[in-house]
Amino acid sequence: MLTPEDGLNQRADASVEGEAPLALPMEGALLTPIKMRLVFLGSPGVGKGTQAKRLSKQYSVPQVATGDMLRAAISKGTAEGKEAKSYVDSGRLVPDHLVIRIVQARLLEDDMRNGFILDGFPRTKEQADALFEMGVGIDKVLNFYLDEKILVSRIEGRRTCSKCNEIYHMDYHPPVVVGICDRCGIPLIHRKDDKAAVVKERLIVYQKETAPLTQYYEKQGCLFHIDANGSVEDVARRIQDACRF
Ligand code: AP5
Repeated sequence: MLTPEDGLNQRADASVEGEAPLALPMEGALLTPIKMRLVFLGSPGVGKGTQAKRLSKQYSVPQVATGDMLRAAISKGTAEGKEAKSYVDSGRLVPDHLVIRIVQARLLEDDMRNGFILDGFPRTKEQADALFEMGVGIDKVLNFYLDEKILVSRIEGRRTCSKCNEIYHMDYHPPVVVGICDRCGIPLIHRKDDKAAVVKERLIVYQKETAPLTQYYEKQGCLFHIDANGSVEDVARRIQDACRF
């Protein structure tokens, strides 16, 4: 029986090479050959969302951003949103079962056939194991790293559009009209969890729960470290080099 240590691609490759698909423990798992299947790992504010959106537009591959999905569920007041709200607002991780269910449903949608960029999932070993069990296969895991002082300044200056999820920064990437989304024309928000006390908690949670995933993926030989310092274009070039698109 395969384990995550055997390498995530093996399940997906089995179907590419015409071998019999392996028995999958989760109902409806995917075994389609996919072009670009990426996971973005890294601290809050490191720039994962900015780069994922850019890459998603460039290659027409969907960005699956669990933070955006949870915030949308919270603002719609769905049952999932109600369960997630107190966790998101306080900077703690939403329970695994809830996030895994949301991601699994999303990965089964038709537009995932050519791949995906998982932005913010997995964040725990349980989530990484669940992703493996889904049988989707991952090509590369990019781990973005950045000095904590710069991280904090990126988070403090971030403003987002609650409608289209576009990400701005007051200094590094300001909208044309101060405080207004260029696309939607509505006022930008300062995320509740971007307040200093919550950011501190998010950084602690990241170190404890998510940072160990670098070892998890290193063992599988699919981990690439990306220096997230410098301009958005600099970082995009490093991603390009690591992935050789
Ligand atoms: P989520 O929304 O995923 O937040 P995060 O991982 O903490 O990441 P951020 O959105 O803070 O940062 P980012 O790396 O995307 O940076 P960005 O591109 O915006 O999650 C929020 C919450 O949801 C979690 O705390 C948790 O409660 C819950 N959650 C989500 N997923 C979960 C999961 N899997 N399991 C359990 N709970 C989950 O950039 C930051 C700023 O910097 C922006 O202003 C941007 O304009 C600027 N910037 C970006 N790049 C550059 C650059 N190169 N130079 C200058 N400025 C830059």
